[in-house]
Amino acid sequence: LDNGLGRTPQMGFNTWNHFGCNINETIIRSTVDAMIDTGLTAVGYNYINLDDCWALNRTAAGVIVADPVAFPSGIAALASYVHSKGLLFGVYSDAGTKTCAGRPGSLGYEKIDAQTYASWGVDYLKYDNCNAPADQTPMVRYPVMRDALNATGRPIFFSMCEWGDYDPAKWAAPVGNSWRTTGDVSDSWSRIITILEANEPLWKAAGPGGWNDPDMLEVGNGVLSTTEYTSHFTLWALMKAPLIIGCDVTKMTNDTLRILTNTEVIEWNQDSLGIQGHRVKRGLLSEVWMAPLANGRFAVVLFNTDPLLSAHMTVTWAELGLTAGSKYTARDVWQHKNVGLYAGTFDAQVAPKGVVAVTLVPA
Ligand code: GLA
Repeated sequence: LDNGLGRTPQMGFNTWNHFGCNINETIIRSTVDAMIDTGLTAVGYNYINLDDCWALNRTAAGVIVADPVAFPSGIAALASYVHSKGLLFGVYSDAGTKTCAGRPGSLGYEKIDAQTYASWGVDYLKYDNCNAPADQTPMVRYPVMRDALNATGRPIFFSMCEWGDYDPAKWAAPVGNSWRTTGDVSDSWSRIITILEANEPLWKAAGPGGWNDPDMLEVGNGVLSTTEYTSHFTLWALMKAPLIIGCDVTKMTNDTLRILTNTEVIEWNQDSLGIQGHRVKRGLLSEVWMAPLANGRFAVVLFNTDPLLSAHMTVTWAELGLTAGSKYTARDVWQHKNVGLYAGTFDAQVAPKGVVAVTLVPA
């Protein structure tokens, strides 16, 4: 969407993956404070987003009202707290009569809701797809909110959550700044793999202003291993996915924080070319992914999907689409060191379910 926003994938925090409907203003304020104290905001996570369950009902005039028990100070006060810390603030609604959790939806209230958000100082809207009339596709309902947001004159990032319905990679670029390509993520390795498979083929649809959204990060939610979370984060970053943290940032382990603040991986995600990484080679239990980066560099990921055995993996320049005879220094972005000069092939030993992730820099 050509509204000046999302020139690189959005980064931030959202309440849903960890807190679900158990949200309130205290959680948001402590999240903001923790994101600053831990250094998450310093590496780029700047949107603080409410998901479902903040809204309760509407006034007689149709104005949306926040849950007064969970948000006694009101949403405008919360937005202003977030802004006072130099960050941006997001809310959630739905292009149907009710949200997925049964709160009021915006269908038929798009203009009044967009005006309300703008008056509160909202910077981001995640717009869900539950409880919509069967005869109105997302292609009909989402542009109505896009236009309503645009009419406010306030720049508001438009995050479409239509779960990949009607192939958004084909139609969503003029509508939203990002669009969900799949159903919901969960803290499960098989779910992560399923979503990777669905999001990968859509890579050509992504670019500055509009990104494929394979859903939010599960890093730090406790079920997966550090290796699995590292692979999840690396591949999401490589795919130019929105990097939206979904754990409790007030209680992160050292590994969680180390993964989420890896600036070398974040740089891949925020690279100015904005080309979504994709798979260039696939074996039975091994995959090679690649994304061109600015300044003639390439991000390369060797991904070992074998759940038990480590593997020695090799990729050739021809498979990566690199010029024969060209030489690159490989910079390992998890070890944070140069691992050698390579001409013609790159190879490494990769842990089960793990990645070796390198930036190839022209030598
Ligand atoms: C849908 C969305 C999720 C989340 C929930 C909230 O399932 O896909 O990301 O917003 O609704 O109810």
